[in-house]
Amino acid sequence: MLIRASLLSAPALQELHFEADGGLVVEGGFISDAGAFGAVASRHPGLAVEDLRPFWILPGLVDLHAHLPQYEAVAADGLELLPWLERHIFPAEARFADLAHASATARSYLQDALSLGTTTAVLYTTIHADATDAIFREAEACGIRAVIGKTMMDRNAPEALLEDTATSLRTSEELCRTWHGRDGGRLQYAFTPRFAPSCSRELMTGAGRLARDYGAFIQTHLAENLQELAWVHRLFPEADHYADVYRRADLLGARTLLGHGIHLLPPERTLLRELGCSLVHCPSSNAFLQSGTMPLSAWLEEGLSVGLGTDVGAGPSLSMFREMGEACTASKLRRASQQVQTARLGRVAGITDEQKHQIAEALDLEPQPTLDAAGAFYLATRGGARALGLGDRLGALEAGFEADFLVVDVRLSDPFGRISPNPAQALSRLVYRSDPRLVQQAYVRGRRCFHRD
Ligand code: GUN
Ligand code: ZN
Repeated sequence: MLIRASLLSAPALQELHFEADGGLVVEGGFISDAGAFGAVASRHPGLAVEDLRPFWILPGLVDLHAHLPQYEAVAADGLELLPWLERHIFPAEARFADLAHASATARSYLQDALSLGTTTAVLYTTIHADATDAIFREAEACGIRAVIGKTMMDRNAPEALLEDTATSLRTSEELCRTWHGRDGGRLQYAFTPRFAPSCSRELMTGAGRLARDYGAFIQTHLAENLQELAWVHRLFPEADHYADVYRRADLLGARTLLGHGIHLLPPERTLLRELGCSLVHCPSSNAFLQSGTMPLSAWLEEGLSVGLGTDVGAGPSLSMFREMGEACTASKLRRASQQVQTARLGRVAGITDEQKHQIAEALDLEPQPTLDAAGAFYLATRGGARALGLGDRLGALEAGFEADFLVVDVRLSDPFGRISPNPAQALSRLVYRSDPRLVQQAYVRGRRCFHRD
């Protein structure tokens, strides 16, 4: 198949690639050629051309962190993390004991995610092994690329969502044996100790061991909310900091995805960088639950690996286009707030400049560069792929990459239904004015998994 369309990708954080009249050859699930249409067509004279102009082709989007069973509980507003879990989330997760409900939710969720451009989804399920198996089956059928894990909890959760340690480890291992690497690696397993407060040391250590044994992923939450931090400190007095709880359980490595990471100390960041873990930035969730704003630019500058996640149901939408916009907005609000606080601090009388300097440092007031649409697009494509260790195979429109891509109608984000001649501006509109109908088609490994009628 030789597709003719405009091609837009972000192979690096500060780099946009745009081919106004592009050609993309897809063979055997891979991109075998890409570039200017004339040049590509001349290299493949026998291939039939599928002319998709005026649509654009983008790499498929990678949602690195979401809770599929929480789809029915989105936008339950008014509470911070811990009471929100108790009031809204645990009841929704308990309903996944009902297999028919789990399958139906998974079908809707995965179709909706594909229709919004997510071709790779990294998902938490619930403690229910049968429901997790059913979710894997739905993912297998619909064609999405997915990393999925049964949520593990052996303490500090409602009775209906608690499992004993051995059962949690055994059923997680069984699911990993069944699903990890399925369909040539399209489906993968993530051992999923929910977060330190709901896991015993034994459970976390067991999960780390199993993940290493099977070469599977690990996903959990880290440093999202200040009350959560205080609780972790009480539960694990021996740990130097939150990340150290996971390090002691051997949960940190190159295949570890850590949701949020808003309130991280310098030694935690050094540890995560040295061990090659990835953080998942979830800006809409961070705002919704009033958790805080992640110093994204600073973390990136320090060399941390970061991707983006919707964190549904704390994030209210499955749209990664929307999440990209939220990431840009969050970085701007953070910078604006730093500038306001710096100005106010400057006006405080009765303390020395040296003291002001110390306060500014303690409050992290050094203004950071803001994230633009191109940067957010990178995080949602190649950056996410890199966090999964797939940066050389996924997230770009280049020969040798897997054919996960979107066909997008950029006119829907334009105020006058036009196509901007400036690709950076068009991308900015896709991100800040994302329209739920943007995605016309979504492909995973060359298979069309979504088509808008
Ligand atoms: N921390 C532990 N569990 C959760 C969850 O379900 N959502 C979010 N946002 N944070 C968590
Ligand atoms: Zn989460």
